[in-house]
Amino acid sequence: MKTREDLIQEAKKNVALEAIKHVKNDSIIGLGSGTTVAYAIEALGNRVKNENLKIMGIPSSYQAFQLAIQHGIQITTLDEHPIIDITIDGADQITPELHLIKGMGAALLREKIVAIASKYNVIIADESKRVNILGENNQAVPIEVLPFALQLVKSRITELGGAAIIREGKGKLGPIITDNGNVIIDANFGLIQNPQELSVKLKMIPGVIETGFFTNMTDVAYIATENKIEKIQK
Ligand code: A5P
Repeated sequence: MKTREDLIQEAKKNVALEAIKHVKNDSIIGLGSGTTVAYAIEALGNRVKNENLKIMGIPSSYQAFQLAIQHGIQITTLDEHPIIDITIDGADQITPELHLIKGMGAALLREKIVAIASKYNVIIADESKRVNILGENNQAVPIEVLPFALQLVKSRITELGGAAIIREGKGKLGPIITDNGNVIIDANFGLIQNPQELSVKLKMIPGVIETGFFTNMTDVAYIATENKIEKIQK
């Protein structure tokens, strides 16, 4: 008898398999981060082995880098390949307009760089990520911040109406440190009607490196439900 967790993992695998159908031979692939993308990286590795698929990956995090190595995907850099053919990534919230909150895995900065460098962006997620408006269910937006400016940024976020919490590490004392040596503030603004405008305001604060709002970047999203895959397209 399958548990609920088994079914969620199965659903994540299914959307990962759907996403990698977009990947063509001789292409550069942006590798997102998270548990759903981990299945896509594994499945891409299988295509490399079984179909002799020729691809090179640009990982968005140390997690994606390690997974790519583990599954036999050749790594390249944005310096060598500044244009990425397709990126596959996960999300923490997705609206019907394909606006996203990302960064619960603290990988948002490189994820956004990789997304912006990509000709085509595919998002995969389980249905718990689907919302009507960003910020539902008390979801905070992760913000990557230069440690030097942490308290300044925290108080400016409060002035903008956000409840700001410095993300603490698990298995580590004190704040988590991102792959880029920065810290994360999780800022709860309640329901966010205009994520783009809020993102611009946040980025005006010196010390804010990037926000977890990904608006107008996604071309297609595959959402896993227990027995089907929902496709949301621009
Ligand atoms: C990483 O910082 C996030 O943007 C991830 O893409 C996100 O947390 C998705 O993770 P799961 O696939 O594990 O839900």
